[in-house]
Order: sequence, then C-alpha cells, then structure tokens
Amino acid sequence: MTNNQAIKTVGIAGTGAIGTAVAKAIIKGINGLKLTHVSDLNGGLDGIPNVSFDELAENCDIIIECLPPKAVPPLAERVIKAQKEFIMISGCALLMFPEILELQHSMPENTRKPIIVPSGALAGIDGIKALKELGIISSKIASTKPPVGFKGAPHIVKNNIDLTKINQKTKLFSGNAIEAAQGFPANVNVAATLSLAGIGAEKTQVEIWADPEAKGNAHEITVEGQYSKLTSKIENMPDPANPKSSMLAAQSIVSVLKDINNSVIVL
Ligand SMILES: NC(=O)c1ccc[n+]([C@@H]2O[C@H](COP(=O)([O-])OP(=O)(O)OC[C@H]3O[C@@H](n4cnc5c(N)ncnc54)[C@H](O)[C@@H]3O)[C@@H](O)[C@H]2O)c1
Repeated sequence: MTNNQAIKTVGIAGTGAIGTAVAKAIIKGINGLKLTHVSDLNGGLDGIPNVSFDELAENCDIIIECLPPKAVPPLAERVIKAQKEFIMISGCALLMFPEILELQHSMPENTRKPIIVPSGALAGIDGIKALKELGIISSKIASTKPPVGFKGAPHIVKNNIDLTKINQKTKLFSGNAIEAAQGFPANVNVAATLSLAGIGAEKTQVEIWADPEAKGNAHEITVEGQYSKLTSKIENMPDPANPKSSMLAAQSIVSVLKDINNSVIVL
C-alpha cells in the first residue's frame, strides 16, 4: 500500500461459514482493508462490533453480504441507498428479489457503486463473459450434490421428496434459473451467477441432481457461442462449517478483496 492510499473499512453481514472465513482472511491481512464491523443475529465475531444493517452501511466503505438469501433485501436496500461498495455472495437473491436491481438502477449514475458478485463456487465465469461479447447461443449448468445438501429446499418440501430414499443419481429438477432460484434458493447461487454473467436467468437452463455417491458438490457448465464452446466442471468438498456451502465461495470473496489494491489484476 502506498502512503497516500486510505484504508478502506469493511463490514460483513452474516458471520456463518463464509462470513467467518472472509473475516479471518481480512484480519490476517489484506492490503488496504480493515474489518471494522459485522452484523449477525447470532452474536457475530469476538472483538468486532456487531451492529445493525443500518450501522453497517453507514460505517463501512465496503459491505460484504454472506447471509441466507431471504435476509438480503433489507441489507441491499441500506447499502445501495448509502452508495457503498457491495459484494454479494448470494447471487440468487438478485433473481428472487428483482427490487434490489431496480433500486440499484434508480441510483444516480455518477455516484452509484457497483454490486460485485464473486464467482463463488463456480469456475469459468471469465470465459463466459468474453464469449458473451460474441453472442451466447445456449447456457446450461448441471449441479450435483449428496441428497442431504438439498434438505429443506422449497422444491423438496413442496413435492414431498424423501431425500433419505434416494439410492442412485437422480434428477431433482430441470428448468430455468428463475424457477431454480425459487425451488432451491440456498443451492442455486451458481446458476444465478452464470445467468448474470451470461444470457440472463430466463434463458439459462438448470439441472439439479442428487447423488448418494457424490463426495462433494459438482457444477458442470456448458456455454455455446457461434465460435466457441465452453465446458467447465468444478468439484468442491462441502465446507465442514456448513455442508450446504463451499470453501471456494469464501475464497472467491477474498480474491475480489485482494484485487481492490493489487498492482496486477488477472480476471
Ligand atoms: N455464490 C456461491 O457460489 C455460494 C456458494 C455457497 C454459499 N453461498 C451463499 O452464501 C450465503 C452464506 O453462506 P454460509 O455458508 O456462510 O451460510 P451460514 O448459514 O453458515 O451463515 C449465515 C449467517 O447469517 C446469519 N443471519 C441469518 N439471518 C440474518 C439476519 N437477518 N441478519 C443478520 N444475520 C443473519 C446467521 O446467523 C448465520 O451466521 C448463503 O446465502 C449461501 O447460499 C453462495
């Protein structure tokens, strides 16, 4: 960091598996950043003030969202209105609650700060963004997890699916990313990220598979353009702190934070 570079204050909303991993990385040291506040219903982190969403937005230059999707709208409203930098790991909240992007687009362009959606548990976003410039014809993601990873998802509850009875690889869902975000809000952040980077939620096809043999969570993307076809598969072991989550997602936020002051940025 140079002498005239001001320290940016960082706040984390949600100090569960991902929020805590990101907090540890900032406390260990990320050039030019200081973790000053957190906001969590369940106590937060030792030694860091645990404050309301209002205070988080007011006091921090950068706010990192690591909440369950349904808790995101009130935070997003405060951060966008305060015109602070906003990093969102629950990309599916942008599909589930379109009012967030409506508010963002209503802010004056000259003072508006971007909403940053990290790549999360996904790989290949760089290629998809480049492919989009030439036109994407089709975009699909197939996500596979052990059955327990889908426990409590609205689609599972609504259709009375007994996850304990799944004894071979089974397709649970096929539809577009908007439908997937409603049925599996905690599991389809990757589909939301793909649609935001690619051809939008309505045209992004999503398949969700439960596999009792799966050791972790796998995401396979196939994106076709006129001149290129991109396939990417990533397998992530579940985060021990939250089996529904992924360690890579936390580190994708850390990588975004490091880029803020890096002298060479590879995207
Ligand atoms: N983009 C991706 O690829 C990706 C990957 C994994 C997880 N995620 C998403 O990241 C988010 C966080 O994941 P996690 O594993 O850390 O979850 P987690 O359940 O471990 O942590 C969530 C935290 O939010 C807190 N919380 C809940 N409601 C709150 C409220 N109203 N106000 C303040 N705090 C509240 C909880 O107390 C908990 O500490 C989830 O939405 C998850 O779907 C995204």
